[in-house]
Formats: sequence, C-alpha cells, structure tokens
Amino acid sequence: MIKPHGSDQLNPLFVADDAARAALQTEAESLPQVVVNSAAAANAVMLGAGYFNPLTGYMNLADALSVAENLTTANGVFFPVPVLNRVDNVEGIEVGARIALRDPNVEGNPVIAVQTVAAIEELTDADQEKIIAKVFRTDDADHPGVSTFRGLGKYIVSGDIEVLNYSYFETEFAETFRTATQIRNEIAERGWETVVAFQTRNPMHRAHEELCKMAKEAVNADGILIHMLLGKLKPGDIPADVRDEAIRELVQHHFPENTVMITGYGFDMLYAGPREAVLHALFRQNCGCTHLIVGRDHAGVGDYYGAFEAQEIFHEEVPAGSLDIEIFEADHTAFSKKLGRVVMMRDVPDHGKEDFVLLSGTKVRAMLAAGEDLPEEFSRPEVAKILMRHYQTA
Ligand code: ADX
Repeated sequence: MIKPHGSDQLNPLFVADDAARAALQTEAESLPQVVVNSAAAANAVMLGAGYFNPLTGYMNLADALSVAENLTTANGVFFPVPVLNRVDNVEGIEVGARIALRDPNVEGNPVIAVQTVAAIEELTDADQEKIIAKVFRTDDADHPGVSTFRGLGKYIVSGDIEVLNYSYFETEFAETFRTATQIRNEIAERGWETVVAFQTRNPMHRAHEELCKMAKEAVNADGILIHMLLGKLKPGDIPADVRDEAIRELVQHHFPENTVMITGYGFDMLYAGPREAVLHALFRQNCGCTHLIVGRDHAGVGDYYGAFEAQEIFHEEVPAGSLDIEIFEADHTAFSKKLGRVVMMRDVPDHGKEDFVLLSGTKVRAMLAAGEDLPEEFSRPEVAKILMRHYQTA
C-alpha cells in the first residue's frame, strides 16, 4: 500500500489507548483552558485522525512563513498550508507548559486536545499578509478564506498535541466520518491497491459521477474513495448532511456494488484553490489512496483562480517526489447533447459550448427553489429530489 506522507507508518495524534485517554482527560481539567477557534479545532481533528501526518502539532511562525513561501516547514517537511493555533488572549499560556484546548463547535466546549506549548509568537500584519498572498493568491477581503484567516487571532501558539476526540464529526456524521487510519484499514480489508479519491463539498451531479467513473477506468483502479468535507462552509454551500444523503442515493443507484467507499473528513473549507488541492492530495495519500481527481476550479471560489490552476500547481510549485500520490487531471466535464452522454471537453474537440448541457450553480439553485426539475442530463432524479427538498425548506 502507498506509504503515508513523511513516514513509514501513519502516526495519528489521537490517544487511542482508553486508559491513557482517560488520564489525559483528567490532567486536562487541571490545566489552563483555552477555547480555540474553529480552524484550530479542525486542525486538531485532522492531526488526531492522521490526515496531517507527519506533523506532530501546530506550526510556529517560522514554519508558517516557510510553508507559505516554499511549501516546506523550517525543517524540510513538505506541507502546503500553515497548520496553526491562533489566539487573541495568551494570558495563562506559558512556554513549556501544557494547556487544554476547548472545542468552540460543541456545546459546553469540551476539551478536544492537550497541547505542550513550544512558543508563543505574535503574527504581525505584515507576516499575515505574506502568508495570505502565497496561500490564497489574493488579498481580497471578500475571499471567504482570506477573511476567515484575517480574523483568527494575533498570537501563534505552537507545539505538539495529543487529541482526545473528533469534535462533532463523529457524532453528527457517524456513518460518514472516518479517520485516515480507518480508511487505510478498510482499503486493506477490501484488498484494493489502486484507489482514486474524489474530493467534494457538493452533492454529486452527473458530471461528478462520470468523472469518478472515467478516472477509475483510466487508472484501472480497484475502487473509488468519495471523501467529502464535513466541516464549515461559506453561506450558500450545500450543508454536509444534505450532500451526504444525496451522494448515498447516487452511489446506491448508479455505481456498481463494492466499488465505492463513501466517507468524510472533519475540516473547514479554506477555499484556497491550488494550495488546498495540494493539501487534498497529501491527506488522501495518508488515507492510502494512489490517485486524487483534480478537475475544474478545484477548491475554488468565485473567479479567484483559473479553471485549471489547481492542476498547474503540481507541475509548477510542488517539487518532484514531494508526494507519492498521483493527480488525475480532469478536463471540464459535461453532458454532450450530440453524443447523449457525459464527456470531458478535451475528448470532443468538434463540440461547441451549445453542444453541452451546462447549468451554473446559481441557475441550479433558482430552479430547485422554484420547484422545477433539473434536466436528467445534469442531475440524477434521486439527487435532484433531495436537493429540491433542501431548497424548498431552507
Ligand atoms: S471542491 O471545492 O470540493 O473541489 P466540488 O465538490 O465542486 O468542489 O468539486 C469536486 C471535484 O470535482 C474537484 O476536483 C473539481 O475540480 C471537480 N469538478 C467539479 N465539477 C466539474 C466539472 N464540471 N468538470 C470537471 N471537473 C469538475
């Protein structure tokens, strides 16, 4: 099986031993308490679940700047985005001491992790803007990832963590949330060797379905890992529970049995386009996948990124050998009226725009809100039905 990123074995930071976890929980009660922001909590979930292997905790300022600039930490670990715990109030936090990190997203703010503080550093506006320029490739305050990042806290508290739970993801998405370790184990149990991962934050329409099928066929894969984001999204994106239901219906009716694993991970969307695509590749390698599909405007938002910038970064910025996972580069995919099936545009050079069924997200939302059926060429009826229910009750 493909090795994790940066180590021979996956080293998840969740404390798996029940007695050790109970002891840590007890210790946490006597420590200084810090309610962290949602980004830091999501980072803890990803670190705990093994997705961010081989990191052992939150990065310091030098790492954050180095990752932004060169995609490697100060001591040379390839990583495309900073993984930070940023706080505004550092009262009671001391270098060398331990602190209990409390979860902002669960009622009562239970402790999610215990951190050993390595450093407390101020993030100046200048450094913050350097990071933003590199990671998001824009400084526009309207970019949802940029505005979230700017609001995250003045100090960087770095250091190793031990993780106690997976926040709300395990309870709210019990059927779907999986750790990288669980996915690796299930891939091994199924005896799959070549596995194509499909990242998504949307319900799957015909184009997504065919993209998965085309990628599986092209790389001769044993199976497909549908791996959906379960964390926070910008307003207007489809909530994870609705998307999960739609994807399950789609797979049940339109994929051959035992070819798909439907799973999710607990992270908030960054909307960092190309950089997030690299992060997506890294953590799918940690799950045991050999390929990641990267198509049109992967992890993008608005018009901030070129349609295929998230593919280009793998050629232009990711040094060869940084990751073992391979990218399946997909062209714009849509239903061809001429051929009566979904195709990649690069495969049909004789087609013009008018030969495809193309609907914008805005148009889809308007149709569903008005109770109009989506064309079957665009969306499977089972999926459209679930989406219509969502838009009519939202
Ligand atoms: S993402 O933010 O999670 O990337 P989305 O769920 O819309 O968004 O896309 C999932 C994957 O499918 C991404 O790799 C994206 O590039 C790809 N994709 C979505 N729609 C199309 C399309 N019509 N043609 C080609 N690729 C697409």
